[in-house]
Amino acid sequence: MLFQNALIENAAAATCIRVENGRFTAIGPELTPHPGEEVVDLQNKLVLPPFIESHVHLDTCLTAGDPVWNMSGTLFEGIECWSKRKEKLSKQDIKDRVNRAVRMYAAHGVQHIRTHVDVTDPSLVAMETLVELREELRDLVDIQVVAFPQEGILSYPNGKQLMTDAVKMGADVVGAIPHFEFTREYSVESLNFALWLAAENDKLVDVHCDEIDDEASRGLETVATRALELGLYDKVTASHTTAMHSYNNAYVVRLMRLLKMSKINFVSNPLVNTHLQGRMDTYPKRRGVTRVKELTAEGINVSFGHDDIFDPWYPMGTGNLRDVVLMGLHVCQMMGYQEIMDSYKFITTNAAKTLYLGEKYGIEVGRPASFVVMDAENWYNALNTNAVALASYKNGKKIAEGTPGCRKVLF
Ligand code: FE2
Repeated sequence: MLFQNALIENAAAATCIRVENGRFTAIGPELTPHPGEEVVDLQNKLVLPPFIESHVHLDTCLTAGDPVWNMSGTLFEGIECWSKRKEKLSKQDIKDRVNRAVRMYAAHGVQHIRTHVDVTDPSLVAMETLVELREELRDLVDIQVVAFPQEGILSYPNGKQLMTDAVKMGADVVGAIPHFEFTREYSVESLNFALWLAAENDKLVDVHCDEIDDEASRGLETVATRALELGLYDKVTASHTTAMHSYNNAYVVRLMRLLKMSKINFVSNPLVNTHLQGRMDTYPKRRGVTRVKELTAEGINVSFGHDDIFDPWYPMGTGNLRDVVLMGLHVCQMMGYQEIMDSYKFITTNAAKTLYLGEKYGIEVGRPASFVVMDAENWYNALNTNAVALASYKNGKKIAEGTPGCRKVLF
């Protein structure tokens, strides 16, 4: 199959893309169709590698208002709402909701999802279900499953064993939640355990790290130190790191050296953290997002995630990662022209590094022919107009398509 007139990743000039047996076999300005080859004219539209959701909780998605709405919008009322909803949790319930959510994502050009799954549950039903869904949905999306200890590893009964069991069940990634542990000692020990567990089992790491406005929350330095000492480096990701927003600058300057040496990735969740953080502040009210601009300037890899989709903690979301990028650029003050043009990388190439996709990802000859066609000529306009994903191809097969929405002024 030959795709003509593609503007790949904000390129000024159109190019052609040949796909055979599910892989890119040629990319160049002038490719001539083979006899009988199917030709698709992309009409000078933007072509990007597929979008990647690098941080979401699929086990809680699409439950907002069921059985009760979060009236204050706070994290704590969200936890109360979830404890009521949790009573109804079953394998079928999770499968129904995840199937719907994945299709919402797919319609917006998302083909990879890293989902955190709560394992502070003796039944581990959500983990078992997501491991099954990873197989069932593989033609539509590649799912990575994180064993996520929502209520702590040391601070939850049998927490270490549940984490170990989740890894045996097939978790791809080991999680942790140091700021939620009862004590600072537990916090450090939980990270020592999580990174050791990952190293022993050749797994990736993604820590809910310092998701709190407490400037004394310093899980990040332990994550980075263990990543360095164990040689895990970029297999390790620190998600949220909202406390870093509140660290003093002298500490951050010292910390940056370690972060660069450790090569760890960061995931920021600008929609959910601007909504949930800063709730104890009067005014000035903190934005609650980590230092994306400064980390990026230091060459440290940062991607963006949605975190929650229509659940007790975040009552919005359609699976459109454009919303995440738009919020991120605003709150991180990254609205310079080139920053806007490059911002698709937060949900594509940067996220691919976080998910450790390597040569399974990217528009290059020899790699899987997975890409998205947007109804715009570059990312700036796609972002600004909330452009539709016209087509999403995964391994050479079209898995989703969209048509531009229509609004008319009548006079
Ligand atoms: Fe999260």
